[in-house]
Amino acid sequence: MIRNLVNRKYLLGNPNRILFRAISTNGKLVVPWEDGKTSKYHGIWLRDSCQCRECHHPTTLQRLINSSSIPLDISADSITENGDGVEITWKGDHKSFYTYEWLRDHSYDPVLVEPPSIKEVLWTGRDLHNSYVKDPYSRDIPQVEFDEVMRDDAGVGKWTRKIAEYGFAFVNNTPVDEKATEELCKRIAFVRPTHYGGFWKFTSDMAKADLAYSQEELGVHTDGTYFTDQPGLQLFHLLEHIGTGGETPLVDGFKAAERLKELDPQAYTTLSTVPVPAHAAGNKDVCIQPADSFPILMHDHKGLLVQVRWNSDDRSTMREWDTPEQVLEFYRAAKVWSDILSSQEFVFQFQLQPGRPMIFNNLRVLHGRTGFEGKRTMCGAYINRDDYVSRLRLTNFGRKEVLRFL
Ligand SMILES: [Fe+2]
Ligand SMILES: [Zn+2]
Repeated sequence: MIRNLVNRKYLLGNPNRILFRAISTNGKLVVPWEDGKTSKYHGIWLRDSCQCRECHHPTTLQRLINSSSIPLDISADSITENGDGVEITWKGDHKSFYTYEWLRDHSYDPVLVEPPSIKEVLWTGRDLHNSYVKDPYSRDIPQVEFDEVMRDDAGVGKWTRKIAEYGFAFVNNTPVDEKATEELCKRIAFVRPTHYGGFWKFTSDMAKADLAYSQEELGVHTDGTYFTDQPGLQLFHLLEHIGTGGETPLVDGFKAAERLKELDPQAYTTLSTVPVPAHAAGNKDVCIQPADSFPILMHDHKGLLVQVRWNSDDRSTMREWDTPEQVLEFYRAAKVWSDILSSQEFVFQFQLQPGRPMIFNNLRVLHGRTGFEGKRTMCGAYINRDDYVSRLRLTNFGRKEVLRFL
């Protein structure tokens, strides 16, 4: 659509004397588009966004101009339509050129173009359970092949897209091997180390009575609520299990939050606003606490739910309340939430299989484990959210398209 806008006349009247001869505080560049919409741009914003080599490093893509050196009421000597865009000569002689494509992509008054994104497919456990029981390799179950992920970036694109859509994905035909699993993780990004180490492998053995605690059931939760920056992805690969139990329940936290909002809007508000402190202090040499206490349901600046932080076990004692009445309301809301998370409708539960690791978005999908007996060896890793999203976007949209919206 943007292509056919180029090479047409966009500026009102004679381009050589349009809009502003001099940009005053109120002066703006006005670009009327072919579709009838009109964008307005402040002079200071345009000058600050100059894309020339002096103002914007062509390789590092960083700003080189000191923005605070630009007068708020910067004015231009001339504005001309020039080929595919607009050339502005600022007072003092600096020349800036903005293509129509760039102006359209970056229009803010109004916003005209949204960067490419991947639509999430929200699910209930029931949605997936029926397909999975009939066939764990059913097309309804998000999955990719190990070989395609290892082969090229198109495979990584397919994998990360499934994770972005469903919040989790299996990787079929993975060698039942620690090293191969680590290499698989690294196809997305480097492993994120924590105080527990980097890539981990863990065996629980009934013979060691002191590890018995690790075989108990774990309710669904997200990991790392005690970090300011919760781990973005987590991968589990069951290498061996001689025994019974130990199934993995998953819940789509975004779908569950949607249900909470419908059922009990007050509870949704409570869980979106009450800050919940958390800690990890089991290891003698650490006491990890996030920079702030965050609510269970976290929204971006547009009000969109972007993160679920829920791990009741890692919650610290709560003593900072707006009012004492908030205490009962919090426990009431948390119970409604917890009931949704443990309901049969929402839980998708399966047995992990050697050779089929499962990766999930820890900011959206909650995971747990049913109790088990016997010897069980798992390996896995965390990957940072930002590094995963970078890889997701580059492999799915291409570098040119991603850079287009910087
Ligand atoms: Fe966990
Ligand atoms: Zn410049």
